[in-house]
Amino acid sequence: MLFRKAITTDIPQLINFRKILLCNEDNSSMDEAFRNYFDSSLSDKSLVAWVAEDDGVVVSSVCFCLCRFAPRFENPSGLVAYMTNVFTIPNYRRQGIVSRLVSEAVGDLKTQGIRKILLHSSDMAKPMYEGLGFIEGKNYMSMNI
Ligand SMILES: CC(C)(COP(=O)(O)OP(=O)(O)OC[C@H]1O[C@@H](n2cnc3c(N)ncnc32)[C@H](O)[C@@H]1OP(=O)(O)O)[C@@H](O)C(=O)NCCC(=O)NCCS
Repeated sequence: MLFRKAITTDIPQLINFRKILLCNEDNSSMDEAFRNYFDSSLSDKSLVAWVAEDDGVVVSSVCFCLCRFAPRFENPSGLVAYMTNVFTIPNYRRQGIVSRLVSEAVGDLKTQGIRKILLHSSDMAKPMYEGLGFIEGKNYMSMNI
């Protein structure tokens, strides 16, 4: 299994995962909007995406939208990563793939001065996020890194 940052050739699979997550797997009406988003945000680095690849096939992804809020005492840079597009194809689940992607990504985000990750969890993924160290808040889960 290869764990690496996503590149533009991964965009079709990132879009497939996004459509499955949004319960619209067979709906192509948003494909152009998704492609434009992934194209522009990967190139201006406002999105960092990590993928796991097995034998040339991307089987899992974890994405982080990077945002800058007003600084707080506990987060002086104001930088926050919003985690999204977290998906592993069914026959690769429970093999530690997302855990490994998150751990690789956290190391990389820290080098960019990011100290906080936020996310909205599906019911299915909540135990996993808790295991990874995320804490449930009123409106979202978060982890200081
Ligand atoms: C949730 C999901 C992303 C997990 O991906 P994964 O690669 O299987 O995750 P990991 O193998 O790294 O899981 C690590 C740990 O999280 C926990 N975990 C993962 N999936 C779980 C589940 N369905 N139920 C309970 N715990 C779970 C387990 O503790 C697991 O470790 P273990 O298998 O040693 O017990 C995957 O099941 C998925 O794509 N689900 C559908 C989409 C989804 O819900 N995405 C999240 C949107 S917020």
